[in-house]
Amino acid sequence: MTETLTNRLMTEFDRFLKVINHVSDVSAKHPGDNIKAPQLSEQQKQHVGGLMRINHTGEVCAQALYNGQALWAKDADTHAHLRQAAAEEHDHLNWCQLRLDELGESVSQTNVFWYAHSFVIGSVAAFFGDAVSYGFVIETERQVESHLQDHLDDIGGHDPRSAAILKQMQLDEIRHAENAQAAGGIELPEPIKFVMAGLSKLMKYVSYRI
Ligand SMILES: [Fe+2]
Ligand SMILES: [Fe+2]
Repeated sequence: MTETLTNRLMTEFDRFLKVINHVSDVSAKHPGDNIKAPQLSEQQKQHVGGLMRINHTGEVCAQALYNGQALWAKDADTHAHLRQAAAEEHDHLNWCQLRLDELGESVSQTNVFWYAHSFVIGSVAAFFGDAVSYGFVIETERQVESHLQDHLDDIGGHDPRSAAILKQMQLDEIRHAENAQAAGGIELPEPIKFVMAGLSKLMKYVSYRI
């Protein structure tokens, strides 16, 4: 049975609401659960909170990107691949949110904007075909992997509990990029990578603060 476009868009809107209004699933474990929470100064707590807020927003963007791509994906295998990746990113979203709760910090107030922005990028990428769409996945995951390393270098020494979450996320993002490459993703032109990096910088600047 073919779903009508209206039904698909309504399902998409429901997905959007679920991500934006997401509350942490406290029954779920995060990769740092077995590591004792460190004693952090107020300043360190705010800094780690800012970084985890960036990572949480990054996962909101990942959900939106994959959902936008999956909605318009040209073939069923690509659609299934993207939905599976989105499900894994949902775990990351939850882990970041759990750690923010532990730190007494909130998620970014700008998540609605970033979801919309990434959903549009995902939709445009899908419009150019599955190879381009996978190309966006490869580049996004590479950039995320690199900023996760920056965060690990920054807080790994004094917050091993957050670091364990980031390390597992980094391993997953590397795998997502490799899977997208194996599925036929192309290397994006340098100017597009440059713009993506600029937008990601803006997201990090804003989400660290609000
Ligand atoms: Fe992720
Ligand atoms: Fe990923």
